[in-house]
Amino acid sequence: MSKTKNRDRDSFNVLDVVRIVGGLLLMNAFFSWWFTSTSTWGYDGKWINTGYLQFRLTNGYVNLTQDELSKYNGVNPKLPIYVGVNGSVYDVSASPSIYGPSGMYAKLSGKDCARIYITGCFGKDDEYTHDLRGLDVEEADNDISSWQKFYENHRKYWYVGQVQLQEVKTKIPEPCEHVKAPGYYDHKKSPNKH
Ligand code: HEM
Repeated sequence: MSKTKNRDRDSFNVLDVVRIVGGLLLMNAFFSWWFTSTSTWGYDGKWINTGYLQFRLTNGYVNLTQDELSKYNGVNPKLPIYVGVNGSVYDVSASPSIYGPSGMYAKLSGKDCARIYITGCFGKDDEYTHDLRGLDVEEADNDISSWQKFYENHRKYWYVGQVQLQEVKTKIPEPCEHVKAPGYYDHKKSPNKH
């Protein structure tokens, strides 16, 4: 046998690396299925969501007008679902049953309704606005930052950027009796619940 052929067999090439990595991945998937019945050792957060990975890789932060934001309301299945909270926009596409067209919080999608996150007056149409005039400043600050943290730290949602909010010149909504979310005070400690 020639010297060249011997050298080829002795050297460690790219194909060997691919084989080893492939084998390790296969073994990892096998054991993960064996122990957790999932291929990700039970993890199902945003780091295995292709939408989130693409967003992080492309640094795809948005700066939307309110009109642009309105397209992300879950009606077009090709677009993600966004909610706005006092200028900050979050991707909540992971929960179409909550924020999609027939979800119980469908009316929060595709807009910034910061006001309703404070008042909880879901039956009053004029509460679905970013207009915070007339509300207690401390209550508003607390509730807004609490809901922003909820979306930002949620294992399946993420911050995508900002919406440019127009100044509101219409009449201030009539006061309504505020309703806080059940477990409201707990959700500050545990960001996936409210
Ligand atoms: C300021 C008042 C409130 C606000 C802003 C609010 C907002 C929300 C939001 C944004 C979600 C979705 C959370 C997620 O993405 O996982 C949610 C879920 C939920 N809310 Fe509220 N909520 C309020 C009050 C209430 C009240 C008073 C009730 C019931 C008496 C209620 C019952 C529920 C239930 C059952 C869910 C879970 C839905 C599910 O996971 O399918 N909320 N709420």
